[in-house]
Amino acid sequence: MLISRASSVLRRNSHVLVARASNARSATVMSAAWRKSLDTSLTEQAKNPIAKFFQLATVRGSGKPANRTMVFRGFLGDTEQVMFVTDHRTEKLEEIKNKDWAEICWYFPDSREQFRIGGSMAVVGGDSQDQELLKVREQAWDEQGANSKKWYTQPKPGAPRDKDDSKFEKDPPDSVHPEFVLVSCIPDHHLWGVP
Ligand SMILES: Cc1cc2nc3c(=O)[nH]c(=O)nc-3n(C[C@H](O)[C@H](O)[C@H](O)COP(=O)(O)O)c2cc1C
Repeated sequence: MLISRASSVLRRNSHVLVARASNARSATVMSAAWRKSLDTSLTEQAKNPIAKFFQLATVRGSGKPANRTMVFRGFLGDTEQVMFVTDHRTEKLEEIKNKDWAEICWYFPDSREQFRIGGSMAVVGGDSQDQELLKVREQAWDEQGANSKKWYTQPKPGAPRDKDDSKFEKDPPDSVHPEFVLVSCIPDHHLWGVP
């Protein structure tokens, strides 16, 4: 089953596709072949929890790479912008602020496809002036489970956990936590294929 799926993907992607848009915004039109292929993989592998995680690489102030696992939170409407959510106080936000570039690496275990999607990052916090994006952020907050919402009540993400557990056990707020940010990757290049 896995082999026939992988070979059908190979036929579909008989070449590794590399594209670079002339500017980031021009890549936001719908229906790029790689976006369709990504949709197919997401649908076909919806039952595999691993398929919704990707790695996000950013650039540290030192110039060295930083990489971490993130949860895919959907596309921004019909665009190719890949969304994730995080805490405004995390290192990755500082890194994006200093160097507005990141690359997503996303592996689909069943089809053995790898997608690499790079570009600039649009960060939507509570101070955004864009009402539509604020609504998307609010919706993303509502879709978070109670435990995920509690993550934002930590005194500082990544700080060593101290003995006072009460700091981490606050009830999650009903309204969007101020540190909660929605981030979308505006692709300016992508690379997809089966190794
Ligand atoms: C399976 C998995 C999923 C994760 N999903 C997210 C996520 O969606 N958002 C997030 O901010 N951190 C997520 N994390 C934690 C990040 O990998 C990372 O440790 C954290 O965001 C701090 O990263 P930074 O200090 O580089 O900013 C996830 C970790 C794992 C293991």
